[in-house]
Amino acid sequence: MEALRRRPTAARIWAEAEEFIRLHHRENPDAGDVEARLSDVRDEICVLGTYRHTPEELTHGARVAWRNSNRCIGRLYWNALRVRDLRGLTGADEIAAACADHLREAGNGGRIRPTITVFAPDIPGRPGPVIWNEQLIRYAGYGRRGGRRIGDPRNESFTAAVRELGWPGGPGTPFDVLPLVVQGCDDKPRWFELPDDAVLEVPIEHPEGDRWADWGLRWHAVPAISGMTLEIGGVRYPAAPFNGWYMGTEIGARNLADTDRYDLLPEVARRLDLDTSNDRSLWKDRALVELNRAVLDSFDRAGVTMTDHHTEARRFMAHLERERRHGREVGADWAWIVPPMSGSVTPVFHRTYDTTEHSPSYLHDPRAAARARGEGMRPAEAA
Ligand code: ARG
Repeated sequence: MEALRRRPTAARIWAEAEEFIRLHHRENPDAGDVEARLSDVRDEICVLGTYRHTPEELTHGARVAWRNSNRCIGRLYWNALRVRDLRGLTGADEIAAACADHLREAGNGGRIRPTITVFAPDIPGRPGPVIWNEQLIRYAGYGRRGGRRIGDPRNESFTAAVRELGWPGGPGTPFDVLPLVVQGCDDKPRWFELPDDAVLEVPIEHPEGDRWADWGLRWHAVPAISGMTLEIGGVRYPAAPFNGWYMGTEIGARNLADTDRYDLLPEVARRLDLDTSNDRSLWKDRALVELNRAVLDSFDRAGVTMTDHHTEARRFMAHLERERRHGREVGADWAWIVPPMSGSVTPVFHRTYDTTEHSPSYLHDPRAAARARGEGMRPAEAA
């Protein structure tokens, strides 16, 4: 213990490790003798300043991190997360290839499987690899061309930075898939085009709108967050992309509708012949509903897993009840849990939540937010 007292970082890791190992053994009675495992972990921390999770600890830790995600409404199935243990990978090429495999396995031809791939952790003196993209699949944003913004405005600064890194740019459609930008251990960020067969996409058309077909709307099937750090028992995994499946409103009420994203409600209204001269005609609300019907119907017709906000709100209530029966407090962030449309017609609206954060968790590192804006990607800036 004396060795730990003299090293504050090691002492912090040990405190967090002990809490996690005890939780792991409490929730997994087959895991063996907790005191024996704790004594091994403490020895390892004394020598290395860190410790290695067993595959079982990694799997349970990644799942509990999902269970602890206060902003996620989709946590009912936390215990079914598939965990790909690729902690041995530290190089950019192999990580980029493994991300493409992740997308193929998770996409699974449309039957989406919640999956996480865990690459090497941070260890003393050697930060782990990082993925600069906020999600494995995102669409380029090219800024204004001829008065119109092309692509996803959210990704404009990232797109500009990758182009300076040498990416020639896509064909210039509103939905050009960005390359991955991966930084291996002891390396600079490098870009890698995602293979076509790793990117499952769904064309979006309205079930009754014959004026939608020529529009060319689409969205990708797998939302795979790659800019968050997985933290388990004091160990941080900065490259650990994870995915669930989409809830329709994420695309229909945010990505395609927000005025600082694709801003499509005026065009939807035009194609539906709505009177847009007065807000009180509720044309935005009506266009929003039809756009969301189009998203849900399109994913259904394509045979791609997607949930809707009514189903998911019900499942979340079931999750709260199930966790209560297990004696566990569920933290939640109301502003994120309540869907961005029709909030009050879902049960999650009509109550409050405890906002306490628990570990293991998926963390927002402020440096990752800067990376997703492309800051520091260019070699000159990084130097
Ligand atoms: N809201 C994000 C998006 O539209 C995805 C966040 C994660 N969503 C999920 N269903 N797992 O791309």
